[in-house]
Amino acid sequence: MKIITIGNELLRCKAEPIAAINGEIAGVAGEMMRALTDGKGVGLAGPQVGFMKRIFVVHVEGDEPRVFINPSILETSQETGKYEEGCLSVPGVWADVIRPKSVKIQAWNEKGRPFTLEVGGILARVIQHEYDHLEGILFIDRLPEEKRKRLLAKMEKTAVKKRA
Ligand code: NI
Repeated sequence: MKIITIGNELLRCKAEPIAAINGEIAGVAGEMMRALTDGKGVGLAGPQVGFMKRIFVVHVEGDEPRVFINPSILETSQETGKYEEGCLSVPGVWADVIRPKSVKIQAWNEKGRPFTLEVGGILARVIQHEYDHLEGILFIDRLPEEKRKRLLAKMEKTAVKKRA
């Protein structure tokens, strides 16, 4: 599976609900999990591999690998926190993002089983980042404008250097 990067318009599109959780979807989830491990990431969403469906996979250290299909965020905490984020689709860019500290989410796993999860910490952080991908939102969109412009300009400069 090839991970697409910023500039590809698919990252800006809203993903569609999955109509049936079948063997094909379970296969995609497995492939996404492998791509996540290969990319040394903590989360990967369908649109990042050009699969425009509402699915993401998460694997943070100390926790089991998790698959979220057709997720709904039910609640987020009032309390927010700052944490440095990166994204496999925005290579080389890291920045502090402010988000709610905890989240309650409902979804289905790759076996078609529904579950509800209420979590904080890094898991809550990654879930919100991945959920954003399903809406066509990238973490850099959540930065102050000046900071975002600076990071994008720096990224463009690095890309030009690499091409040269
Ligand atoms: Ni990402």
